Order: sequence, then C-alpha cells, then structure tokens
Amino acid sequence: MFRVSQFMHELVAPSAVGPRRDPPGPVVIWNLIRRCNLTCKHCYSISADKDFAGELSTDEVFGVMRDLKSFRVPVLILSGGEPLLRPDIFDIAIRAKEMGFYTALSSNGTLIDDRVADRIAEIGFNYVGISIDGIDATHDRFRARQGAFAESMGGIRRCVKRGVKVGLRFTMTMDNAAELPQVVDLMESEGVAKFYFSHLNYAGRGNKNRLDDATIQVTRNAMDYLFDTAWAHASAGREREFVSGNNDADGPYFLSWVRRNHPDKAGHIAAKLVQWGGNASGINVANIDNLGEVHPDTMWWNHNLGNVRDRQFSAIWPDTSDALMAGLKARPRPVEGRCKACAHLDMCNGNTRVRAQRVTGNAWAEDPGCYLSDEEIGLA
Ligand SMILES: C[S@@+](CC[C@H](N)C(=O)[O-])C[C@H]1O[C@@H](n2cnc3c(N)ncnc32)[C@H](O)[C@@H]1O
Ligand code: SF4
Repeated sequence: MFRVSQFMHELVAPSAVGPRRDPPGPVVIWNLIRRCNLTCKHCYSISADKDFAGELSTDEVFGVMRDLKSFRVPVLILSGGEPLLRPDIFDIAIRAKEMGFYTALSSNGTLIDDRVADRIAEIGFNYVGISIDGIDATHDRFRARQGAFAESMGGIRRCVKRGVKVGLRFTMTMDNAAELPQVVDLMESEGVAKFYFSHLNYAGRGNKNRLDDATIQVTRNAMDYLFDTAWAHASAGREREFVSGNNDADGPYFLSWVRRNHPDKAGHIAAKLVQWGGNASGINVANIDNLGEVHPDTMWWNHNLGNVRDRQFSAIWPDTSDALMAGLKARPRPVEGRCKACAHLDMCNGNTRVRAQRVTGNAWAEDPGCYLSDEEIGLA
C-alpha cells in the first residue's frame, strides 16, 4: 500500500528520514466468509451466493485472535466474501475491539441498513471500507447486480451519518477508468474521508478477466490525476486521505511526478520512498482465508503456507522453509528481468509477484503490471 497523502505531507512539512521500520506483527486481512451477495467481475476470492463448507467457527476465530494478539498483530481487516453475511460478524468485531486490535470492515456496503449501521457505530469499528467501482450502471455492471450502486451508496451514507470513518475503494480496469474523477468527487459530496485506489491484481476472476486491465497510459493518467488531486487537498490544508494498492510502482512514479512538479524536494522524497520500502506481501501484510489457510497476501490463494487449525499463525508466518515466503522476505527479493535491473528496486521491492506468477508461471519474473518506462527505471 502506498500512502499518497502521507507523501504529499512530506512535500509540505518534510519529516526526518530514518531506517525502514517494520511494525511488530503484520496487518492481517481475514476473509471470514467466502459467500457473497454479489459476483464481481474481478473478485479474487471467486465469491458467489452459496455456502462454502469448512469455514472457521466462532470459537476457532477467537482462538486464532488470541494467537494474533500475542504475535503483536496490530490490525484486523474483517473481509470476505461479504463479511456482513456471517451471523457472528459483530461478535467477532466486539471481541477484536476488546482485545485492542484496530478493527476494520471491508464490505460491499449493500447490506448496511439502519440497524446494521447502528451496530457498526456502537461497536466502534475504526474504519469501514466500501467498494465503489464506478457510477450507477458502471458499478452495477462491474459488480454484476442492478441496483448495487444505490445500495452501496446507501450503506456509505448511513455510516457517514453516524460518524463512522469510511473509505471508498475503487479498483480500476478499462471498464471504469473514465469514471475515476466522478468517484473521487463522491468524497466531497458524501463527506467521505478516505479514497483507496486499487490497481487490478491477477487473482481469481481478476486473473480470468485480466485482459480488462488498464493500459499503461490509462494507468499513468489515473495516477497523475490522483497525485494532482491529493496535492490540491494537502497544499490547501484539507484532511483527505488518498492511498493506492496492488502496484508498488506507484512509489517511483510519484518520484517522477515530484521531479516534474517539485524538483527541489525530489532528493527528500527519494529517501522517504526507500524508507517506505514498497511491496509488503509476506512481510507486513498477511492473509487468512475462510478455511483457515494462511497466504502471503489476499491475492495468493493459490499458495498455502499452512492452516491455523493445524499450526498457529505465529508459527506459520515467520517460517521461511516455504520457498515463496523465503523469497518474499528476502531483501532484495530474487526478482528477474526488468525488475532485477530496475534502479528503484529498493523503493518498490519488486512490486506484485502474483501478476508475474499468473502471467509467466514464475513468481520472480518481472511484474507485467509495472507501468514505468525503461527510462524511468534507469534502463534506457
Ligand atoms: C474481496 S472484497 C471483500 C469485501 C467486500 N465484499 C467488497 O467487495 O468490498 C475486498 C476488496 O478487494 C477488491 N478486489 C477484489 N478482487 C480484486 C482484484 N482482482 N484486484 C484488486 N482488487 C480486488 C474488491 O473490489 C474489494 O474492494
Ligand atoms: S469483490 Fe466483494 S462484493 Fe464483489 S464478489 Fe468479491 S467478495 Fe463479493
């Protein structure tokens, strides 16, 4: 994840450059249920409106949470499928809050009626991310259900009204790229504090539909737009949070933007980008799926590291006997091709290995999603 707004603040008020610091334990994204009332075109969990056998019970979830706490995991992101379809979702959230986790909900928003919004506010979720992949019919097509946009917007409004911190999450493909500015504008019109821009990752239905991925030029235009917009807010002192995910080339591309717009700050930003350190899969971000399988991140469901029913997460996560985990945790990672030759490897950390693996069969091949030119990565 690339914290765009934090970097904009570095342009306004630079902070001291220090060594790269890893949090005590990884952020855990937990797909508690795979069932979903939508069937989105890009869905990495290949969710659908049916039950999936063998999901973790409430007691099993509580047991894993105790282990995560002792392993000093700071954040739990409760996800799915649609997590609000799990009957015990609020019991899990209450327990997570009691145990002191920063507790977030990742939802499609369609099931957040007044009663659900009341519960979300009472429990005190620290953050609720709701996906909006376009305006009206574009969102509905992307999410394969007519009326989904209106329902998701209703969920957003009910949370905002109750003072819950909400983020809009937008995954860009060629299907919805043209509507990025309109979705960003919803932040202002709906009073939403955060915008999460996601590139497409090639997992699940997102891999099946990877030909819909944004072209390099469309991606570059979108990032320019995001950087310009985040800068307009930051330089005016308005608190709006922009983050991006699933493409760590965003860091070095931001450096090009800084060189064009704030050349005197480029040295400082370059040092801060090295401190940030790029892709964190297998290091600072972890995934547990609905069946208890642990993965290096949410997009690696084709690679199991172990199951929390057999072995504690705290034992699975540091174990580098798995070759993929050893490579992900290595610095530099054993990447090949353009990534190996790239001048910015210390900033992006080799970007998104899932895309490389899905397109070439080799997890260490160059990331086909890198949108930087040869010149920008020091090859030309
Ligand atoms: C799997 S969903 C689960 C939560 C909820 N059902 C929702 O849609 O927000 C979590 C987030 O991952 C995003 N996502 C799913 N597949 C993706 C992919 N292949 N690449 C990038 N983001 C993806 C979704 O758009 C959503 O914002
Ligand atoms: S992205 Fe979310 S809403 Fe869409 S099918 Fe997957 S789990 Fe359901």
